[in-house]
Amino acid sequence: MALAAAAFMGVACCMAATGRDAATEARIDSLMARMTLQEKIGQLNQLNAARFDTLGAAVAQGRVGSIINEVDPEVVNSLQRKAVEESRLGIPLIFARDVIHGFNTVFPIPLGQAATWNPQLVEEAARIAAVEATASGIRWTFSPMMDVSRDARWGRIAESAGEDPLLNERMGLAMIRGYQTDNLADPTAMAACAKHFAGYGFSEAGKDYNTTWLPLPLLEDVVLPPFEAAAGAGVATFMTSFNDINGVPSSGNSWLMRDVLRDRWRFDGVLVSDWNAITEMINHGVAADKLHATMLAATAGVDIDMEGHAYPDAMEALVREGRLDETVVDGLVRNVLRLKFRLGLFDNPYIDLSRPSPAYAPAHLAAATRAAEEGTILLKNGGMLPLGLKPGKVAVIGPMADAPYDQGGTWAPDLQHERSVTPLAALRRLYGEENVIHAPGLGYTRDKSLDGIQAAVKAAREADVAVCFVGEEAVMSGEAHSMADLGLKGAQTALLEAVCATGKPVAVVFMAGRPLTAGKEIDMADAVLYAFHGGTMAGEALANIISGKANPSGKLPVTMARMTGQYPMYYAHKNTGRPPEWTVDLDSIPVEALQTSTGCTSYYLDAGKDPLYPFGYGLSYTTFDISAPRLSASSIAIGSETPLTVECTVTNTGDREGAETVQLYVRDLVGSLARPVKELKDFRKVTLKPGESKVVSFALTPGQLSFHGLDGKPLIEAGDFQVWTAGNSVDGTPVSFSLTD
Ligand code: BGC
Repeated sequence: MALAAAAFMGVACCMAATGRDAATEARIDSLMARMTLQEKIGQLNQLNAARFDTLGAAVAQGRVGSIINEVDPEVVNSLQRKAVEESRLGIPLIFARDVIHGFNTVFPIPLGQAATWNPQLVEEAARIAAVEATASGIRWTFSPMMDVSRDARWGRIAESAGEDPLLNERMGLAMIRGYQTDNLADPTAMAACAKHFAGYGFSEAGKDYNTTWLPLPLLEDVVLPPFEAAAGAGVATFMTSFNDINGVPSSGNSWLMRDVLRDRWRFDGVLVSDWNAITEMINHGVAADKLHATMLAATAGVDIDMEGHAYPDAMEALVREGRLDETVVDGLVRNVLRLKFRLGLFDNPYIDLSRPSPAYAPAHLAAATRAAEEGTILLKNGGMLPLGLKPGKVAVIGPMADAPYDQGGTWAPDLQHERSVTPLAALRRLYGEENVIHAPGLGYTRDKSLDGIQAAVKAAREADVAVCFVGEEAVMSGEAHSMADLGLKGAQTALLEAVCATGKPVAVVFMAGRPLTAGKEIDMADAVLYAFHGGTMAGEALANIISGKANPSGKLPVTMARMTGQYPMYYAHKNTGRPPEWTVDLDSIPVEALQTSTGCTSYYLDAGKDPLYPFGYGLSYTTFDISAPRLSASSIAIGSETPLTVECTVTNTGDREGAETVQLYVRDLVGSLARPVKELKDFRKVTLKPGESKVVSFALTPGQLSFHGLDGKPLIEAGDFQVWTAGNSVDGTPVSFSLTD
């Protein structure tokens, strides 16, 4: 039975974003009453940092409302002075920046932070980023990216929390709390920005900026929930995405921006376009010119034109000609002014330059180390790791062993690479210079020259163990850096083959912006660590893990495919009518085989049915046991206010302290639409001493069992479900329960 179930949908549904207060609204009214049309349009114009004289003049004339990418505190204050002291109405500017995974102290890329499965740590990282960035005047960051990403070809998977909506929601909310605190007016708080609204992670074929086709159930069940939660949690701003959804570019999508964001979710913050995205509606082919593009974006409710020069060039004419009602413009301006009041900028517009620089404070570096440690995933260990504190001579090999810039990853514009601690530096410090033999083998990850490989082999031969750092340079992931082949680039495979052929124990450490299809290289190694670009302290963290000073606890936030052609690949897939029970390998098929001999089920002849490693996977130096779940009842009623309690016992069965992430999965066995084979509903990371057990308890509400129909309306259906708890998305013992009317 299907019921309309708005009441059961996400916890955050329909909360006002940050709550309006009458005094602020009155101040906005009074300002608006004095503003000319040009001054109003100025508030909607966001410009990139440029020469001080030109930008300063525009600011003094009230033609600019916010500035992106100015991080020199002196210049920030000078420009602010132009706005506050020289412009007619003295409205302060907001200074914005992509503070994506740290400012001075660079933390792991968001995908690496997601791999920690530790929202408290992610919140701490965001708080530190805000403390450092606000010291340079940045009060608005374009983070978190909440785009569910299921295709590792897409370079921006690096900026996401991976393939799962819940993980994106939890990590995104943690970042929002860290940036904004509960008082946006605090001078160390930054407005966060939920981006890219929406569907950008589904860019066709993983090619950046590409079109998306998104049916309503996919949008409502997978794409929108993290954003809805962000709106409910009071995120100050949203950003439109570059892509079109079903032919409608987001910056002109009135349904998404007005009906969903403003009316359904009651968001009353600022909606900014992505960079030039309003004007790019001309390239999309839905706008004839800037006038048309402005009309579409303003009608959709896009408040700020980021460096697109459409609003400043076209809006005044549209209003004067009566094509765009000035009340529409007023609505946009009110949102911008409200944000400026919320940030306390009218009362406190300048940076306090006497504040001691918080950059690289020891506590910041310690948190960055912890984040990089907890985000590192142990994929394989035949017992070689940890090396301990006296492993003899260690050969440190590979192009990522000493790549201070590249370990920063994408979107780290403020990284000072001389502050990066590389694995080589950290291992030398830990083991002593005399015990580390460094031979990179390759100059950089795309290097095809074989010239350095012999030296690497010699180093491995002279050493007791070899640790090879391979992966991707920073430039190989991120915006506009999609990739059609996810194998290791350059001569990295040849390097690993040569080093492994020495017969010495070899640990391979991947440092990359995405999951790579590295099955062959993983097979060769005795132990494998996978680290998404780890930032300033990546090397310190990896040395701690390699030596055993830290115990890895990272879990994959994305499915790691065997071959690129398997993407999009994600654990929460549908079963299909022909799920494979057995598969046939391409090489074993006889010549002139019968068409039906391979089973006629849903898999690839050359890649099989399974990924290389599943979502949620990651080992530890200790072992854990997670019991089958115990339920508080065998059924739960749709209208019940009391959740179903699902608890399990997790035990550290090994001999070291370690942390395990208990993951709660659910399967809806029969639905009016085909349902995913499993969906992550909750998770908890627990630290356990050797032999210690803890009971982990989850509350499962009927609302968490709802989904959306073809018309996009919420449904909650009585029927049979399975629930289980596990340390990854493939293990676990399902237990049945039912949802009743
Ligand atoms: C990106 C955004 C970013 C903006 C500002 C765009 O190209 O898509 O994520 O926030 O630039 O730098």
